[in-house]
Amino acid sequence: MKNILLQPKAKGLAITIILPIALIFCAGCKKQDETSIVETEKTEALEASASEWTVGMSQCNLGEPWRVQMNLDIKNEADNHPEIKVIFKDAQNDSLKQRSQIEEFINAGVDLIIVSPKEAAPLTPPVAAAYDHGIPVVVLDRRVLGEKYTCFIGADNKKIGKAAGEWIVKKLGGKGRVVELKGLMTSTPGQDRHTGFREGIKESKIEIIFEADMKWLEPEARKEMESALARFENIDLVYAHNDPGAHGAYLAAKAAGREEDIIFVGIDALPHEGQIYVKQGILAASFEYPTGGREAIQIALDIFAGKVIEKEIVLSSRVFTKENIDQGGEWLK
Ligand code: FRU
Repeated sequence: MKNILLQPKAKGLAITIILPIALIFCAGCKKQDETSIVETEKTEALEASASEWTVGMSQCNLGEPWRVQMNLDIKNEADNHPEIKVIFKDAQNDSLKQRSQIEEFINAGVDLIIVSPKEAAPLTPPVAAAYDHGIPVVVLDRRVLGEKYTCFIGADNKKIGKAAGEWIVKKLGGKGRVVELKGLMTSTPGQDRHTGFREGIKESKIEIIFEADMKWLEPEARKEMESALARFENIDLVYAHNDPGAHGAYLAAKAAGREEDIIFVGIDALPHEGQIYVKQGILAASFEYPTGGREAIQIALDIFAGKVIEKEIVLSSRVFTKENIDQGGEWLK
């Protein structure tokens, strides 16, 4: 599909607005303080004016390592392109806050918005408003509703959920008692990891004995798992929609002295989180969910260059298990 036409206005904006403001601010500093502060402010203002494009990035929260990694992937890629300046905002897991962040970006006249929305419905109107204003919007990882955005980048959550289901069926020999700890069900990855999983197990004799929405959060998952452990004497496996959830469930089982009896499976497979859990034997499998941060900057550059871009970019994922982790996991087909 098509991208939108853009005006290279950021540079002029920086020179006409940011630089004078910064200089006024610096003048204030000089009166009361050291010249070094003034110099830093001046350098920053000049750096800002050197960037041709301003990108606003709204991250739904920075509580999980996966989201910290996404921002880092964006930053590292943007650092290779001095013509781009990224302004990061953290919505602290609050959809209303994230809504106003996008509105602020529209009012500030940024050249492009990257957003990883907390929830689909509340973030749809501001994203559509930006798009209607002619500001390209790259949506990362969690979707909004409808078609009013420029490009969506993410892995296929239904496919990951289905692959997890099929892997679990095999692991349990076609039958068993399973707990499903779901991600926030008002966000699209939670919905897709659930439906994909149910599809993957549908021909088996697996029984879902307990399911709960742990909202992607480790402490919530731990709490839900405590209830599951209290209610059920036999649990064969926990399928959690992310690795923090699987780890929370493991901690609850460990506290009850039952971690050896239960298999734990998660999603994300960050090298410094899920993959470590697999190596330690805490998780039997983790399915990779790439952040798309690097790709978001690459797409932004294509948009700025006036290239025609795809409306949807699907990233590939791997599964990591004890058997394959030293070989770099196995790609999902
Ligand atoms: C982090 C996270 C990841 C998960 C993704 C889904 O907030 O919960 O663990 O894979 O969001 O959007």
